[in-house]
Amino acid sequence: MESVHAFRREKDMLRKNLITYTRKAFRMLPRLEDPRILDIGCGSGIPTIELAHLCNGQILAVDIDQSHLNSLEEKISEAGLSDRVHTLNCSLFHLDFPDEDFDVIWSEGSIFAIGFARALREWSRILRPEGFLVVHDEEKDFAEKCNQISRSGYHLIGSFIVSGDTWWREYYGPLERYVIKIQEKCSIDPEILSLCDSEQREIDMVKANPVQYGSAYFIMRKK
Ligand SMILES: C[S@@+](CC[C@H](N)C(=O)[O-])C[C@H]1O[C@@H](n2cnc3c(N)ncnc32)[C@H](O)[C@@H]1O
Repeated sequence: MESVHAFRREKDMLRKNLITYTRKAFRMLPRLEDPRILDIGCGSGIPTIELAHLCNGQILAVDIDQSHLNSLEEKISEAGLSDRVHTLNCSLFHLDFPDEDFDVIWSEGSIFAIGFARALREWSRILRPEGFLVVHDEEKDFAEKCNQISRSGYHLIGSFIVSGDTWWREYYGPLERYVIKIQEKCSIDPEILSLCDSEQREIDMVKANPVQYGSAYFIMRKK
């Protein structure tokens, strides 16, 4: 029988299909010596671990979902990164860190929870002057988001789109095939069944209109 653990591991594998874009965004930053990075809404930490491989910095990864943080803890330990990567169960609404504490703030897929403009305003306090904010968000309202960046005390130093087709080809399409394979098995744990249903609802929305589900990376420098 499929386990929840195996289900999450498969989702992690699919998330890794898109890790090339995390790498691309990081490489748009200037060279940074041992940066202190805050990864907001780290989830199970696929981008977090990649960031740790891309630099020699210290990374603090925060999320409110403890099961995701536990999964990230396992990855940190397996990769021998316990001296440089740490997790914290903390809401992105309560980032009570000292002023100008971080060289880089990284947020993939989490800014929607607080809203783009509000995040830019509030997260600026804990970012050092000329520090970097990298956000991966929906492509929707791309031009308006670019305007908000320049109005909120940041320079946009780069951006790029990950198209809805790419998301379908590299993530949602393979996820759907996996979900169908699980559902075809005769004995399914009810917890897995509920995970499959929830994934299928998201897959169906994307499938109906993939163009609408593109995402965008915004690479910003605080003025
Ligand atoms: C789409 S996942 C992205 C995970 C990871 N950054 C990635 O790109 O694979 C969004 C994450 O944001 C987290 N999240 C949602 N609301 C949050 C909040 N108020 N504070 C902290 N994390 C939050 C969720 O728990 C989830 O792990």
